[in-house]
Amino acid sequence: MDQPSIALIYGTDTNNTEEVGTKIVSQWKDLGVEVEMHNIKDIEVSQLEDYEMLILGIPTWDFGGIQEDWEELGDALSELSLADKTIALYGLGDQFGYGDYFVDAMGWLYEKLAPTQATFIGEWPTEGYEFEASRACIKDKEHFVGLAIDEDQQFELTDQRVEQWVIQLYAERAVEAA
Ligand SMILES: Cc1cc2nc3c(=O)[nH]c(=O)nc-3n(C[C@H](O)[C@H](O)[C@H](O)COP(=O)(O)O)c2cc1C
Repeated sequence: MDQPSIALIYGTDTNNTEEVGTKIVSQWKDLGVEVEMHNIKDIEVSQLEDYEMLILGIPTWDFGGIQEDWEELGDALSELSLADKTIALYGLGDQFGYGDYFVDAMGWLYEKLAPTQATFIGEWPTEGYEFEASRACIKDKEHFVGLAIDEDQQFELTDQRVEQWVIQLYAERAVEAA
């Protein structure tokens, strides 16, 4: 295979995470890279091992709650063989409505996958967002562990954020592969 295989896998309740996923895939296509897209509820968790790179999307619901199709997988995520794989996360949330729990589920997904020893890329600055607390700020409050998207309050920034993030992933992935 000429290109490493990349999949974007998302969970969603009201389709925002799917729509943002479509934008991410389209941005990769503009860079000449095909990315497969799947709803997590339609595949087996073991299929996550089939790709060299995973872009995983998750929204937060009900005060820090985890989107249910991802939550069901729970500890099975930690047991995946992903040590030689690269993972980038994106999370959907509402910073003004749920500022104490902003994109918390993305932090949960990171915590579940960290034991696999996968390499995470795509950290994103918290500058430009207003929130009190987020489980997705793993290292410090200056960075989310992946891209945070707010379709409720800052939908006008989504296209620009996606474009910038995919270019960042493209560059970080090249460094990882070198
Ligand atoms: C009842 C309800 C609870 C929510 N809880 C949170 C939350 O705790 N944290 C957060 O960042 N966003 C929260 N949100 C915002 C959703 O994450 C946001 O609307 C997201 O785009 C939904 O994605 P989906 O359409 O892919 O399910 C909540 C929204 C609703 C309506």
